[in-house]
Amino acid sequence: MSDLLDISHVGKRYAMGGLFGGKIVDAVQDASLSLRLDRPEIFTVIGESGSGKTTLARMILGLETPTSGEIRFLGKTIRHHGARAKRQAFMAKVQPVFQNPFEAFSPLKRVDRYLDSTARQFLGLRDWDEINAAMDGALQKVGLSLTEVRGRYPHELSGGQLQRAAIARALIPNPVLLIADEPVSMVDASLRMSIVNLLRTLRDEFGVSVIYITHDLATAYYISDRLMIMQKGMVVEMGPARLVLDAPEHPYSRLLKASVLDPADAGHGQLEPARDLMELSQVALVNRGQLIARPDGRLVRSAELVAS
Ligand SMILES: Nc1ncnc2c1ncn2[C@@H]1O[C@H](COP(=O)(O)OP(=O)(O)O)[C@@H](O)[C@H]1O
Ligand SMILES: [Mg+2]
Repeated sequence: MSDLLDISHVGKRYAMGGLFGGKIVDAVQDASLSLRLDRPEIFTVIGESGSGKTTLARMILGLETPTSGEIRFLGKTIRHHGARAKRQAFMAKVQPVFQNPFEAFSPLKRVDRYLDSTARQFLGLRDWDEINAAMDGALQKVGLSLTEVRGRYPHELSGGQLQRAAIARALIPNPVLLIADEPVSMVDASLRMSIVNLLRTLRDEFGVSVIYITHDLATAYYISDRLMIMQKGMVVEMGPARLVLDAPEHPYSRLLKASVLDPADAGHGQLEPARDLMELSQVALVNRGQLIARPDGRLVRSAELVAS
């Protein structure tokens, strides 16, 4: 049986500027992971800003073509340019949830119009009763209802409600995989857990796998089955979430954990909401070599700390 998703040694290189003296950015390097069809899970990608998380997400969504390696979904290579019908069938199965729900929805368009057009586009529905049922069904899955959302403009909903509505829209085509790129970072801290819990419900009750992209270790710890930690395009450590976050091995993973653990809460296991992680990138950490499998089931890249 083929995997749900199989990412094999994928890289993305951007060349900017002219042919000569241009700058090369390896946004993602040699990333591999696979998700199984028969075991829905929340797979988390953690990394500070610029580590390549969104680039990886865009490649999975078929919005960017990898410069190296291959991504297969249900055994077939994901192609950026493909026949329209194939692309549509793929998009129904793999749906995105973006960071800022206020950007995902036009302020001038009623939220239910988005749900309506998604139902028409992906489910081919024309009958009003059927469209309403599809919209309401998806909204119920995220703890909302059509009555609450109908006729409302984005600014009439809270950030948390709007992100729920965005997830409901993504659920209409009955996807098997959600790619959620920092879905809670623009949502009020008090509402974050409800969104994060929702991802868990989608996994448990509807069998949807989620690639959860974040820089927040607290929510990652709470919901992830497995995770990978990225630094400057490189996967530095990967494995069962609790194992890695309880006792990170790679120096960067340790640094990441140390930087968000509030010393005042030490011993209580309380993780603070992520602080600015930018400063971490100042550390001269050179990742060399391959990911090495540890007996406990994680993969750790060999690294050296280099005096800067
Ligand atoms: N379209 C692009 N053109 C050139 N460079 C890009 C492009 N997209 C991303 N990058 C670069 O790739 C790196 C990773 O970016 P990104 O994937 O957005 O990271 P993250 O989502 O973890 O913040 C950054 O250095 C970024 O500047
Ligand atoms: Mg990003």
